[in-house]
Formats: sequence, structure tokens, C-alpha cells
Amino acid sequence: MSEPGAPRLPFEPYKTKVVELLPNPTRDERERALERANYNLFNLRSDEIRIDLLTDSGTGAMSDRQWAALMVGDETYAGSRNFTHFEETVRSLTGFPHIVPAHQGRAAENLLFSSVCRPGMVVPNNMFFDTTQAHVVHQGAVPVNLATPEAYDPRSDFPFKGDMDLTALEALLAKEGPEKVPLVMVTITNNTGGGQPVSLRNFQGVARIASAHRIPVYLDMCRWAENAYFVREREPGMSGRSIREIGRAFFDLAAGATMSAKKDGLVNIGGFVATRDEALFERLKEAVILYEGFPTYGGLARRDLEAISVGLLEASELEYLQHRVEQVQYLASLLDAAGVPYLRPVGGHGIYLDVRRFLPHLGDEDLPGQALAVELYREGGVRSVEVGRLMFGSETGDSSRSLELVRLAIPRRVYSASHLAYVADVVTRVYTRRATVRGMRMVYKPERLPHFTARFAPR
Ligand code: F0G
Repeated sequence: MSEPGAPRLPFEPYKTKVVELLPNPTRDERERALERANYNLFNLRSDEIRIDLLTDSGTGAMSDRQWAALMVGDETYAGSRNFTHFEETVRSLTGFPHIVPAHQGRAAENLLFSSVCRPGMVVPNNMFFDTTQAHVVHQGAVPVNLATPEAYDPRSDFPFKGDMDLTALEALLAKEGPEKVPLVMVTITNNTGGGQPVSLRNFQGVARIASAHRIPVYLDMCRWAENAYFVREREPGMSGRSIREIGRAFFDLAAGATMSAKKDGLVNIGGFVATRDEALFERLKEAVILYEGFPTYGGLARRDLEAISVGLLEASELEYLQHRVEQVQYLASLLDAAGVPYLRPVGGHGIYLDVRRFLPHLGDEDLPGQALAVELYREGGVRSVEVGRLMFGSETGDSSRSLELVRLAIPRRVYSASHLAYVADVVTRVYTRRATVRGMRMVYKPERLPHFTARFAPR
């Protein structure tokens, strides 16, 4: 039993069958690991990490049913029955007729954008994720973020910070037209902006505007079930509808989607692109053969497709989603007790620390997000990731409004409430001595997606 007034403990709707021991590096070992890694946490080894909140992507725990599904893998090169089942499952959830599997989300993005984008084109999104943005840029096109202004205010409690600014969308489409805009993308939930949901009402507006300009709308549907959960909780008239019904209401308005099944597919690897456009489907099949593999396996083992079929359904169970969001809220309530600033309201897959308020003595040139992520690792072996200027640069042209965040992403079905309490303790200790945190500088900057391979040094 918890103390009266204490944060409600999230009740895990699963029990443990297999365990993985947690490493426990000492302070000295962590310091040496930081030096060896050139202060880039992507270079750490898993045995140097106590709690890994780098990403919620592909890091979840599969269920016994998913592991069992792997055992009915039919590793036929073309025409595997696992593909048929996968195709049926995705079709029945989304209503999209044409499904092309890919090994993960960015591979699906490559298939889609290399098939529709030409140099000089413009692709709007509520907020691009880094790889999605990079794929648009890779095609010589221009990514444009059009999130609602509230999305850029970490203190605002606006319930749908993933929403698109419809006035800005209308203006952009009127200016550029269908010749220059191959599609409008909407990311559910908005990961870059804090795991924030898009309302159905806003998405209806996006679909109406895009359709008036004869431009298709695609969803980046990585966290579609978490988005549907928030819509059910927050949007008037939605509380009586199931997650799958709400998800379907979004899909029905879209021409297609890209998916990283490593998120709301509850698998360690996999993804797909889906479309209603038959001509595009033919081009996607040619592209998948070139980049991934035959269209009935898309760079995956066929057993992986079977695990996705099970995972997509488990991820859209209400009890699962309730626990998932409660876990994030539990961590937030522990941080509230210490006054730690984070982006509000808390999102679906993690806490995003508000770096500018956490480390007000550091300027942008001190790479404060990276400095904070390094410090959380140093303090307690907790790995997080900078989601800010480093990850996004200024390719979307809105760097003056850009958010500076450090994300504590919660892997699915992996950590317990006591692990989260440990994380809150580490963050709180760093917050208490925040004035001692020094800035970082970049000593090697790669050309693309710098945060993955850049090298840093303390200032
Ligand atoms: N779109 C969004 C919104 C994402 O969050 C990600 C991945 C992708 C696309 C690409 O999918 O990794 O399977 O290639 N996000 C992970 C993260 C990596 O940590 O947020 P992928």
C-alpha cells in the first residue's frame, strides 16, 4: 500500500517470466565510460548503463504470445503465410489496402519519400522526427514544421500539442500547390514535441484542407495507439470509443502511413508503409526490392512479421495503454515533488526535461541538452537523449523557436515503478546541484544526423 497522498503506483498488467540482470557500473567506471564514448551517450555499451531511457524504439519486452509467434515463422522467400497474416492484421486495423513491410520506420520513410519526393518540393509535418526530416532532405526537398504555437511552449498544458497549425497549413498549400507538395504528413504522437497527441478534430481539419488542394495526407503512425489513448481521455465525446475505433477514425482520413513497429507494434524490429494509391504501391514494391527485400518480407525474417501481427493488437489494448501512460505520469509526479522542470503535459512515451529552465546558466553554445544528458549518466548511470538543436539542427527553419529538451523515454513493459523512482532520484540529485553542471562543446561534427556520431568534450 502506498502512503496517503503519495503518487499512485502504476499496476503492471503483466508478470515476469524471464529476467535480465541490470548492470551496476561504479562512479569511476561511468566517468571512464564517458571519456571513452567521447561524451556521446550513443557510444556507451549496455553493460555500462544502469537504466536505459535512450529510446522506446525496439527496446520493449515482447509477450509470451509474441515469442510463441516467432516459432511459427515460415521462412519462405516469397509468399510466406506470416506475410499474409501480417497484411490481414494491418489491413483490418487501418483499412489501408496496400502494405509493404520494411525493416524499420526509416526504411519505410525511404521507400515513401524516394517514390514521391523530387528536389525543390516541400513537405509539411506537425513536427518531423529526425530520420523523417533527413529522408526529405536526402531527396532534395524541404521539410517544414507546422505545429500549433502551443507546442513550442513547454509550460503550456494545452491537451493536443501535436496539433497542426491549420492556418499555416492552408497558407503553405495555397502558395505551393500540389505540384510542389507531394504529401502532408502528420506524426502521431508528436515525438519531437514531447510525445504529444494530435486531436481527431485537428486531423479532420488537416484532411479537409489537404483534400481541397488535392494533396494526400500520410500519417507517421509509430505511436498511433498512444495517440488514440489520449484522444479517448481528452477529446470531448471520445471516452466511449475503443482505441481501435479511434485509430481507425484517423486512418480513414489518411491516404496512407509509415510505421515503425518498434514502437506501437511492440517488437524489436520491423515497420511498414501503407497506402490506398495503387500506382504508388507499384513504385513502393520496386523500391522495397531495391532497398529491403522481396515485398512479402521487406528486410525482415518472416517470423518477425508474425510477432508484429500479435504486437499491434496487444499495443491497442486499453489496460496496456493505461499502465503505459500511468508509468510516465508516475515518474512526472515524483519529479514534481522536487520542482524539476519538464515539458507539460507529460506525453505518451517519456518525460522531456525542459533544459532551458533546468540549466538556466548555460547558453545554446554550451550544448545544454547534451550537458544534462551526460550529467544524468554520470550521476546514476541513467541514459537519456538530447532532443533539441543538436538532434534537429535548423533544417526546418524554426531554430529560434526550437525546443531544448532531454528525453527520458520509457521502454514498453520493461521497467518497474521502483526503477522509475530510482530515475526520479537521479534527476533530482542533478537538479539540486544544477549550478555545478558545465557546458559541452562539439569536437567532431558529422555532416548528417550529428547527434548519433558527434564527439564532445567538457567546456
Ligand atoms: N517517426 C517517429 C515519430 C519516430 O519516433 C521514429 C523513431 C521514426 C519515425 C523512425 O523509426 O527508428 O524504426 O527507423 N524514433 C526512435 C526514437 C528512434 O528514439 O524516438 P525507426
